[in-house]
Amino acid sequence: MNSNNKIYFYPVWLRIWHGINALGIIILIITGISLQSGGESGFISFNLNIKIHNFAGAIVSFNYLIFLLGNLFTENSKFYIVKPRNFIKRPLKQAYYYAWGMFHGMKPPYPLSEKRKFNPLQKYFYLIVMYIAVPLVIFSGIGLMFPELIFDKIYNVSGVLITAVTHSAMGFFISIFLIIHLYVASIGKSPLENFKSIVNGWHHV
Ligand code: HEM
Repeated sequence: MNSNNKIYFYPVWLRIWHGINALGIIILIITGISLQSGGESGFISFNLNIKIHNFAGAIVSFNYLIFLLGNLFTENSKFYIVKPRNFIKRPLKQAYYYAWGMFHGMKPPYPLSEKRKFNPLQKYFYLIVMYIAVPLVIFSGIGLMFPELIFDKIYNVSGVLITAVTHSAMGFFISIFLIIHLYVASIGKSPLENFKSIVNGWHHV
């Protein structure tokens, strides 16, 4: 849908998923860091920290189904399709724009349109975080909540250890993604433009 140079990029289901996901993941990052450093943050006890972390984890996991089903049954999935042509060249061109071009008056190499919601670099990051990092953090989290589900040993290494390392590594990756995501989202007509879009659904072209 296009009206007055605006494209309706973010349907209601996507905005609901994104809002719950953003809040849930911020709570998970804060409680996760606190748990890694002993859990006694001075504000809340170790046990309460675990309860909040597990609860937020369950909400983010069920909420992930909205993203999966939405991308399975609506047109939004088409924005996540990667074309093999110039598989490396396209994101590199975008990275060059972010690192140098946009500070030197260069025009965006992949301007957004009704057919292109993400630039190539953004698309790769969204694919990796949503289809690799988030599922891995969810499955490893379930494993840590129910250790009886985990293999005792994988190639002589403790299954619990592998699960815990996977969970921390993916949590760390998602935290770094979030910082980059917030910075990149602030690049636009004005720093708040994209943040308004993910709330009201409309993107200014
Ligand atoms: C305070 C937290 C967050 C804010 C303010 C925020 C902001 C935004 C904004 C402004 C957009 C639309 C513009 C764009 O595509 O860059 C967006 C889209 C998106 N965000 Fe976030 N985000 C947050 C957290 C997260 C987290 C934690 C994840 C994933 C783990 C995430 C994943 C995504 C994805 C996949 C999209 C594209 C959705 C689609 O159109 O299909 N965001 N976010």
